Amino acid sequence: MRSRLWPDADAQGLADEARAFNDGYAVPGVDAVFIAEDELPEPVGFLELSVRQFSDGCDSMPVPHVEGWYVEPGARGQGLGRDLMRRAEEWAQERGFTELASDTGIDNEASLRAHAHCGFVEVERLIKFRKPLT
Ligand SMILES: CC(C)(COP(=O)(O)OP(=O)(O)OC[C@H]1O[C@@H](n2cnc3c(N)ncnc32)[C@H](O)[C@@H]1OP(=O)(O)O)[C@@H](O)C(=O)NCCC(=O)NCCS
Repeated sequence: MRSRLWPDADAQGLADEARAFNDGYAVPGVDAVFIAEDELPEPVGFLELSVRQFSDGCDSMPVPHVEGWYVEPGARGQGLGRDLMRRAEEWAQERGFTELASDTGIDNEASLRAHAHCGFVEVERLIKFRKPLT
């Protein structure tokens, strides 16, 4: 599922990180993982959180940030994404955090709407640049 959410990343690396986290090792950028299970034998969604030192548009520091939020296409629209987000909110509140941060691609309309439906308010739009140093 991680490689379906992040198709440009190295699939083996993503799988290795997931295995390492599962085995109890610290994985940079992953502080909590929530898994959605249907009646199917395989999980159908996940949400990953990291606690960032800061996140644009948030008032509190550090702040938990949704790094990945994914539900398999065939399982979408049934509330699983919302359940994952709710569980992440509980995890954050239990640890004393007062905000949850997230981001998404500027053209990812479905994600924008799903965030809004889950109570997120858009705070900023960002353009990222890259310049290769040769
Ligand atoms: C974003 C995503 C995780 C939502 O998962 P989901 O299981 O379909 O979400 P839910 O069914 O729980 O819906 C949650 C809320 O968002 C709304 N929503 C979800 N998808 C929507 C869409 N495409 N258009 C409009 N609203 C949508 C739902 O209506 C629901 O709100 P409601 O309860 O008020 O009706 C899923 O669409 C996905 O995996 N997308 C691809 C990956 C991605 O873009 N992830 C986000 C960026 S990291």
